[in-house]
Amino acid sequence: MNPRRALPVGRRRPRRICVIEGDGIGHEVIPVAVRALRAVAPDLEFVEAEAGFECFERRGVAIPEETWDAIEGSDGILFGAISAPSEDVPGYEPAILTLRQRLRLYANLRPTVSPPLPGLRQGVDLLIVRENTEGLYVRTEWGDGESAVALRVITRKATERIARVAFALARKRRKLVTVVHKANVLKRTCGLFRAVALEVAREYPDVQVEEMLVDAMAMRLAVEPERFDVVLTPNLFGDILSDEASVWGGGLGMAPSLNLGEGPPLAEPVHGSAPDIAGRGIANPVAALLSAAMLLGTGLGREEGARRLREAVWAVLAAGYHTPDLPGEEGKTVSTAEFGERVCGELEG
Ligand code: NAD
Ligand code: IPM
Ligand code: MN
Repeated sequence: MNPRRALPVGRRRPRRICVIEGDGIGHEVIPVAVRALRAVAPDLEFVEAEAGFECFERRGVAIPEETWDAIEGSDGILFGAISAPSEDVPGYEPAILTLRQRLRLYANLRPTVSPPLPGLRQGVDLLIVRENTEGLYVRTEWGDGESAVALRVITRKATERIARVAFALARKRRKLVTVVHKANVLKRTCGLFRAVALEVAREYPDVQVEEMLVDAMAMRLAVEPERFDVVLTPNLFGDILSDEASVWGGGLGMAPSLNLGEGPPLAEPVHGSAPDIAGRGIANPVAALLSAAMLLGTGLGREEGARRLREAVWAVLAAGYHTPDLPGEEGKTVSTAEFGERVCGELEG
């Protein structure tokens, strides 16, 4: 056990955040989120560490030892994005997957809320609870060029613990959990996920449970997103559905997430390193800012600061300022850095 974590609850102590920008636009959006965190919670301490594909190319290792040391001494992690090439790169494993697995961050919370943006549908407020450790992400595959096989692992233990996270969160929300699966085809794996989730549902009689096949879910999410509250899914379905859901929140540039489990909470935007726009100063920092708010609130239990940060982001958007990925008045299109300055202006002013 990390001795820092054994401190008595309620004792004031510095909150140390390990900051990992990662690759691509991670270098642009994370500094904005750190500035905003400093403004809202001046007692936070930040320690910077490296990880990702650029680090691998430079040093031959995706997560260096000193990064693990920095994480070990931290109360939370703010992570940008990494590049994970589709070609096999010998020796490279996507750093974010290694972090989720080694830190046993078994729950990936991916909310979508309608933002105050012109032309965007209002009334969406859903939370995807993605199992984060197993499914096809055990990444055990083999093949000989003629055929290939991937292992999909679903266990009672991991399904019970992710289902409990989903039902406990639903209890504090609109009390509806949608269990997503494909048990009509994947009888063993999705069948087990479904059965265990429905068993756990019985521990929460005040929460309504429904089940939906993932293909139907993808359709319903596109036409009637307001009907969903908490969406409980195995790993890969959650990955796919969270990109889809992000559209209702203004797109990938606006979608935050928080990974929770045994190690320090790790907040990260849902988006990737966005090589198509990296280095141009135009990436939307809202996903990173809202991830930082999740880290502060749900992760570190400092809900007041998290609320202030969210409201500052919302105020800048409501005033019409936006990065180019969002619709809006031409004259109010701003850079990543300028959006960040406006958020800090809200917090400091
Ligand atoms: P992506 O999320 O990086 O980008 C998809 C599209 O959304 C691009 O057009 C991009 O410009 C846009 N976009 C993403 N974030 C944005 C932002 N903040 N502001 C404005 N526009 C934004 O996904 P991709 O292009 O499929 O993948 C690129 C790389 O990122 C790949 O190597 C992939 O493996 C990796 N990836 C990493 C993560 C992660 O670190 N968690 C997540 C997804 C993809
Ligand atoms: C995400 C990403 C990652 C995932 C990739 C980059 C490994 O798509 O965080 O959504 O598949 O989980
Ligand atoms: Mn993804």
